[in-house]
Parts: sequence; C-alpha cells; structure tokens
Amino acid sequence: MTTPAPAVFSPAKPAILGGDPAVTLPQDDALRWPIITAEDEQAVLRVLRSGQLSISDETAALENDYRQRFGVRHVVAHNNGTGAIHAAMHAFGIRAGDEVIVPSATWWASVMPVLHHGGIPVFAETEAESIGLDPADVEKKITDRTRAIVVVHLFGMPSKMDHLLDIARRHNLKVLEDAAHAHGATYRGKKIGTLGDAAVFSMQANKLVPSAEGGVLLTDDDDIYEKVIRYGHYERLLPMKDSPNRMFAATGFGMKFRMSPLSAALARSQLKRLDEHNRRRNVNCRFLSERLEKLGIRTFMAPPPDDVERVYFEFLVSYDEQTTGLPIGDLARALHAEGALVAAPRYPLLHQQPMFTHGVWAKIARLEGLGIDLPRYDPADLPRTTAGNASLIKLPTFPNAPTELLHQYAHAFEKVIAHARDLPRENA
Ligand SMILES: Cc1ncc(COP(=O)(O)O)c(C=O)c1O
Repeated sequence: MTTPAPAVFSPAKPAILGGDPAVTLPQDDALRWPIITAEDEQAVLRVLRSGQLSISDETAALENDYRQRFGVRHVVAHNNGTGAIHAAMHAFGIRAGDEVIVPSATWWASVMPVLHHGGIPVFAETEAESIGLDPADVEKKITDRTRAIVVVHLFGMPSKMDHLLDIARRHNLKVLEDAAHAHGATYRGKKIGTLGDAAVFSMQANKLVPSAEGGVLLTDDDDIYEKVIRYGHYERLLPMKDSPNRMFAATGFGMKFRMSPLSAALARSQLKRLDEHNRRRNVNCRFLSERLEKLGIRTFMAPPPDDVERVYFEFLVSYDEQTTGLPIGDLARALHAEGALVAAPRYPLLHQQPMFTHGVWAKIARLEGLGIDLPRYDPADLPRTTAGNASLIKLPTFPNAPTELLHQYAHAFEKVIAHARDLPRENA
C-alpha cells in the first residue's frame, strides 16, 4: 500500500483557522544577513588602524580580487552600485534623446541614471522563464534612437543573454549587465558580469557580497574604463600618462564615486566566502523549491537554457491563483499565520510610478522644449510584466537555515494549499 503524499492531503488544520502554526523554530539566526565573522571584523579594523580612510591600497586590492575572479581587464570600485550605473551611462555616451531599453520589473537604480544623461528609458516586457528582459519585445522596441540595453539579472537569475547579446550586436547597441543581484551566477559556462560591454555589482548590505555600501564596475573595454574614471574618479586621472582624459585631472567630470576603504575591506573579506554562502542558499532554496513545485508553484530553480547556474539574492516564487482558487493575498495571510515570513512582490513596476506617468522624468532628463518626441508612460503598458509580477511571492533566502526549518516552511505551504477552499477571503 502506498502512503499518500503528506503534501496535499495534510490533515493538519491551518493556523488561520485555529490550528497550530507550522513554523515554530527560531528564525533570527537562520535568516540573518549579512553574516559577519571575526575575520570580517579584523579586516575592517586593519584598515581603520592604517589611517588610510579615503584613498587606500585596500580599494585597489578589492579591484584586483574582482579582476582575478572575473578575468576582466578593468574593475572600478564605486561608492555604490547606483553610482557605477551612472558612470556606465556616461561611458556609453548616452545623451539627449537617446533611447535605452530597460525592464520595468527592477529596482529604480537600473533605470534612473539614464535620465541624468538625457536618455529616454524605453520599458520592455519581462519574460516568464527567468524574469529578465523579453528578447522579442526588446527587438520590437528598437528604433533608430536606441543606443543601449540595461539587462538586469533579477533576484540572481541570469537573463536570456544569448538572444539579448545577439540583438545588441545586430543593432550596434551597448549592453550594461546590472548584476547587482547576481554575484556568482553563470550563463553557459561564463560568469555573469563578463558578458556585456560593462557590468555592475552592488555591495549594499543585503547583497550576496554585502558591505557597508559599495559597488564595482567591470569592463574589458579600455575606452569605457577611461570614461568611467574621468566621470567619478578624478584622482586617478593624473597617473594615466597615456590617456587623453588626463587633461581633466584637475576637475574630473563632476562626480565623486570613490568607495570607502572600510567598505572595500569588508567586501574583500565577504567575497572570499561568496561561494560558500551561495552554496548554502542554493541548497536550501532548491530543497524548498522541490517541495513547492509539487504543489504547482513555479520556483525558477533552473532558468533556461540548461547550463545556467542561478543564485539567490532573493527567493521569489510564482503562484497561479487558478490552481487553488485562493487569491494570492489570502495565501500570503494564511502563510503568515503559519509563521512563514512571506511577502508580496518587492519592486513596484517602474513604468507605473508617478515619476513616469506624471511626466516628471522628462524634467530630470531636461528633454522638454527640445523638439524631441517624448513617450507617454501608461500603467496599462506591459500587461505580461504586470501579470507576472502580481503572481510573485517572496520567501526568505535561508542563508543559514537548518533543514528542519525548510520542512516547516514546506509544511506551511502544504497545509494552506490543501485547505485552500476553506480559508478566509479578505474580499469575499
Ligand atoms: C537591480 C539593482 N540595480 C542596482 C542597484 C543599486 O545598487 P546600490 O544599492 O549599491 O546603489 C540595486 C540595489 O539595491 C538593485 O537592486
């Protein structure tokens, strides 16, 4: 006789109906991030005591660590990832009226720097398999004013780079990989962060290489590198003996994007443990994903094509209300009652924000009155992206969780979904 899978036929009563909560283990340590060790503390103390708190060998050493790890010609440390994206837009030569194709489902820093160079963000749909830019829609949105694409490897899932790079090559567009979420991911054997004309990683404290703010820009292109330096790192121009940009050493281009050496010290120390940290998150998120897939929840465990290794900056899963009839908000409430720390989607879609729908963007870009055709952004644009985003539920990434806690989370979902019909509806 076979035992029925406990998953769907769990008799346990959901906590929201008065049953015992499924998740009872303490979660603070299991979910704590960043994980700071004595080694991290020593690294920061060493630099603090050196007195080199502005310009320091430590920052150069961090750049070197990244160069080695990623096998790229140039790495420039920045005060944060946002600054590095600004620098990339400058280096790409974005200017008034140029169009840059971007996703709407991302953090604002992927897009807002475009405006400060007079660029026009053109939002393209997000595809459903790896929640990256949809190559077919990108192709449709190209005009003779398109200059660049910002590809975001959202939550640590590599976007469809083969297609996107092919489009960029055919249309002579620059590609920025916004890899803020994707430290350690690979695509067809290549490291994410080495595929575009430039790439940016963030070391903001939630990221996979966490620090006290920080970012790096990677590029193999000497011209991009020099422009990045002239934009935000004036003090590095004078030593560049052969560069025509050396003449700007006394002024730079008006930005100051230097990384704090204390941040560099912590980032270096954390980078050493990146693979180990990623491995733990991956094991835990995959374990839970396998249980959730059995309940009809899509978990993006293996974004196509086959030889893609994702990482888990965030652990988002997609829930189709049709499978149970239980609205996503009610599912989340019931899971919360079980003690599971789940949340609604993290990023408000950018094309629906007042910045774009009220036309404020054009003021920041200083594009009014220039006779350039300006787009109108409508919240009803990008219906596929909007529907996909509304189906997402965010889970913890379990950076240090015991297997028992994952069982408890799985059990919480199993109970709630098994009893979906009986659960209270907020808008009934
Ligand atoms: C997708 C994405 N791009 C860029 C950034 C900017 O990085 P930072 O916070 O280091 O400025 C973030 C930051 O959270 C992000 O999530």
